[in-house]
Amino acid sequence: MLTFLAYFTVGVFVAGFLWKISVYARTPAPLLIPTTPAPVTRGGVVWRLFREVAFFESLFKADKFLWIAGYLFHAALALVLIRHIRYFCDPLPAIFAHYQIVGILAGIAMVGALGLLLARRFLIDRVRHISSVADHLFLWLLMGIGGTGLVMDFFLRPDIIAIKRAMTTLWTSPSASLSMASPGDVVFIIHILMVAVLLVVFPFSKLMHLGGIFFSPTRNQVDNPREKRHINPWYAD
Ligand code: HEM
Repeated sequence: MLTFLAYFTVGVFVAGFLWKISVYARTPAPLLIPTTPAPVTRGGVVWRLFREVAFFESLFKADKFLWIAGYLFHAALALVLIRHIRYFCDPLPAIFAHYQIVGILAGIAMVGALGLLLARRFLIDRVRHISSVADHLFLWLLMGIGGTGLVMDFFLRPDIIAIKRAMTTLWTSPSASLSMASPGDVVFIIHILMVAVLLVVFPFSKLMHLGGIFFSPTRNQVDNPREKRHINPWYAD
């Protein structure tokens, strides 16, 4: 069951992600519309995109509260996912020996940041007005994943050895994992089912900003209309 779930959800995620990226790559950008002040060279664009991805630069200029909550969430998520390597890798590289506490603190920070992002959608009138059901559901889903993770950290310890054995076998020997018993801890099962939902809906949701940011014309275009003629890609049709 776990094997089927894992291969199905990861398959949908990878195929959906690549398909969406290919759609973005083929979508024409008929107008030259970089948000100014914009870089005037390709290297400048790469640097701009790097600052956008690494520091959420334009969000910082636009909305300080959202920047703090959003940045905290994403940074903490990255640290949490790095800690998760221990479930998939045996033996675990020594570099992770002192990392576990960082991951757990990041888990608390991640759930706290999600609380701020949810509060924003409830408490700020103009944000509440434009919030869709999907906006709320993603925050609750991530909250559920993080919350069950913390419950396993602090209250209901799951059988980590069994989980690690199941996860490593999943990708090192899928056929052997078919005949293995799945870990039975209820909180872990809820955690993993919510992760499965997240993976399956990811490519078809706003979470695709993970890949879409690189295809945003306002961010990835060079500001060079005086030096170079921009031809509308639809012009040839
Ligand atoms: C197949 C994928 C995953 C597995 C097998 C897994 C497993 C686990 C386990 C066993 C724990 C308890 C940690 C412990 O007691 O040592 C945990 C904690 C946690 N998980 Fe996951 N998880 C997965 C994916 C995810 C994802 C995608 C997220 C975030 C979106 C996430 C967020 C968390 C958080 C925030 C914690 C608490 C902090 C921590 O222990 O790192 N997990 N996870």
